[in-house]
Amino acid sequence: MKICVLPGDGIGPEIMAEAVRVLEALRSDGLKFEMETALLGGSAVDAAGSPYPESTQALARAADAILLGAVGGPKWDALPRELRPERGLLGIRKDLGLFANLRPAILYPELANASSLKPEIVAGLDILIVRELTGDIYFGQPRGVREENGQRVGFNTMVYSEAEIQRIGKVAFEAARKRDRRVCSVDKMNVLECTQLWRDVMIEVSQDYPDVTLSHMLVDNAAMQLVRAPKQFDVMVTGNMFGDILSDEASMLTGSIGMLPSASLDEAGKGLYEPSHGSAPDIAGLGVANPLATILSAAMMLRYSFNLEGAAQRVEAAVKKVLADGCRTGDIYEPGTRRMTTRQMGDAVLGVL
Ligand code: IPM
Ligand code: MG
Repeated sequence: MKICVLPGDGIGPEIMAEAVRVLEALRSDGLKFEMETALLGGSAVDAAGSPYPESTQALARAADAILLGAVGGPKWDALPRELRPERGLLGIRKDLGLFANLRPAILYPELANASSLKPEIVAGLDILIVRELTGDIYFGQPRGVREENGQRVGFNTMVYSEAEIQRIGKVAFEAARKRDRRVCSVDKMNVLECTQLWRDVMIEVSQDYPDVTLSHMLVDNAAMQLVRAPKQFDVMVTGNMFGDILSDEASMLTGSIGMLPSASLDEAGKGLYEPSHGSAPDIAGLGVANPLATILSAAMMLRYSFNLEGAAQRVEAAVKKVLADGCRTGDIYEPGTRRMTTRQMGDAVLGVL
C-alpha cells in the first residue's frame, strides 16, 4: 500500500506527524504501508516554485492513496492566483479525478457542549455530505475579469454534464445504502438551469435505487434547515460550490471542525484524505493543534482505499476512547477535561491502540 504523504502548510506538518505515527503503529500489526512525503501548497511554492510541483504529481499519481494535512496561509495570499496554495489543492483534485468528496459531520457525545446549538438539536447528529469536487463554477470556462465599456466585469461559469451528475449521484445513493437510506439533493433549480438538470438527473439515478428515498431542497432552505433541524438529514448530495459552503456549516454543528475527516475519491477508489479544517496559521508551530481529524482521515483511507474496515474501526474506536478519557486539545477543551498538546493527543491515541 503506497501512501503519498502531503503535510502541507501551517499546522499541517504537526497534525500529519501524529497520523503517520498511528499508521506506523498499525504496521506492527502486519499492515504493509510504504509512505513517501512530498510538497503541496505554500511550502511547495517556496521550495519548488509551484503549489503542485511535478515531483509531487509523479508521487501522487503512483500512490494508492494520498494523505494531506492542510494548505494555505497569509504568507502566500498576495501571490498571483496560479501560485496560490489553494491552486495546488484544486490542481491535485482535478489531476487525479477526485470527483467525490465525502464529508461526514458526526457529533461525538462527549463534545455535545462544543456545539453552538442546543444539545437536543444536535445530539446524535450523523450527516454525510457528498460534494461533487471537480466540476461546477470552480472549474467552468469561460472565467476571468474583462474590460467592458470602460469598466471591469468579472465572470465565472456554472456547468455540469449529465455524466458528472450521474456519477456523483451514484456515490450518494451507494453511501445511503450503508446508512439510513435517505438522500437529499441540494440545488437552486428555481433560478439556475444548470441545477434544474442536476435535479432531473438525480431523479433518473434514483430509479436504480428504489430502496433509497430521494428528496430535494433548494440550497438557501438547506442552509436554514441545517441549523434549524439538522437531524432530518442522512446523506446530502450537492455540487462543488454549494457543497463547499454547506459542509463548513455542517461541520460547525458539531462544534469542532478539528474533529472532522474527509475523503475525495476517484472512480476506481483511489483517494485523497484530509481533515476538513484549514492550515490554522495562527497556531502553526505551537504544537497545540488537534490531530484527531487527520488521524480520522487516515482511518477513512484504511476503509475506502484499502478496504481495511477492521483497522479503520480500531483507529476510530481509539479516538472515541481518548475523548471518553477526557483528553482534549485547546479547540475542544472544557473545564474538567485534560488539555493536551498535539503530541500528547497522538500519544494518547497510540496508547489506546
Ligand atoms: C475546501 C476548501 C477549498 C475549496 C479551498 C481551500 C480551495 O475550502 O476544501 O472546502 O474551496 O474546495
Ligand atoms: Mg471549503
